[in-house]
Amino acid sequence: MQPFLIAPSILSANFARLGDEVDKVIDAGADLIHFDVMDNHYVPNLTIGPMICQSLVKHGVSKPIDVHLMVEPVDTMIEGFAEAGASRISFHPEASKHVDRSIQLILDHNCEAGLVLNPATSLDCVEYVLEKLDFVLIMSVNPGFGGQQFIPSTLHKIKRLRQLIRQSGKEIRIEIDGGVKVDNIRSIAEAGADTFVAGSAIFNQTDYKTVIDNMRSELAKVHSV
Ligand code: DX5
Ligand code: ZN
Repeated sequence: MQPFLIAPSILSANFARLGDEVDKVIDAGADLIHFDVMDNHYVPNLTIGPMICQSLVKHGVSKPIDVHLMVEPVDTMIEGFAEAGASRISFHPEASKHVDRSIQLILDHNCEAGLVLNPATSLDCVEYVLEKLDFVLIMSVNPGFGGQQFIPSTLHKIKRLRQLIRQSGKEIRIEIDGGVKVDNIRSIAEAGADTFVAGSAIFNQTDYKTVIDNMRSELAKVHSV
C-alpha cells in the first residue's frame, strides 16, 4: 500500500476553469482528485454531478477521481458516478437506508468503496461492514463547506479506527477530510490517517506545488502509524 496520498479537493478550485485547475494540481503532485458532491438536501450546499466528472475524464485526468457523495439518497448517484469514470466512491451512512447494499453497489461497479463518518457519527457504524470497505473517510469538519477549522477530537477517533482496522487484519485506508493544512498534517498522520483531503490549503494559494511539497515534508517526519 502506498503510504501517504494527497487528495486536493476541487471544491476550492476555480470552477470557471476546472480542467486547467485539475491539470495544474496533478502537475503539482496530487495523488487523487477529491470530488465533493453536494445536493442542498443532505448538506446545505449544491455542487457538481456526474456530467462534470465525465467531462474531467474526457479531458484526460490522469489520477483517480475520489467521489465524496454528500447526497441523499445515494444509490442513483453511485451508479451515475461509476458510469462517469469515478475510481473511488464514498457516502454517508445517514444518507442510505441500506448501507451494506450501497457499499455492494459501489463494489459491483468495480470502484473502491468508502464510508464517511461525520464528526458526531460513531465508529460503531463501520463495525459490521468494515471487511467490505477499501477506506473509511473521517470528517474533521461538518460536511458542506470548504475552509472550516479542523475539529481536534477527530484525532482520537482516527486512533481508535486504526486499532479496529489492525484487528481486522485488512488493508483499509483512513482518509481525513476538513481543515487539513501543512501545520497539522503530521499529527493527523501520526494518529493513523494515510490519505489527506485538502481544499482551501492548496487552492487558496497561488503555488500548489509548494503546498503539496510542504505537506510531504511534514509527512516524511512521521514516525510510525
Ligand atoms: C467539505 C468537503 C471537503 C472540503 C474540505 O464538506 O467534504 O472536501 O473541500 O475543504 P478544506 O480542506 O478547505 O477544509
Ligand atoms: Zn470531501
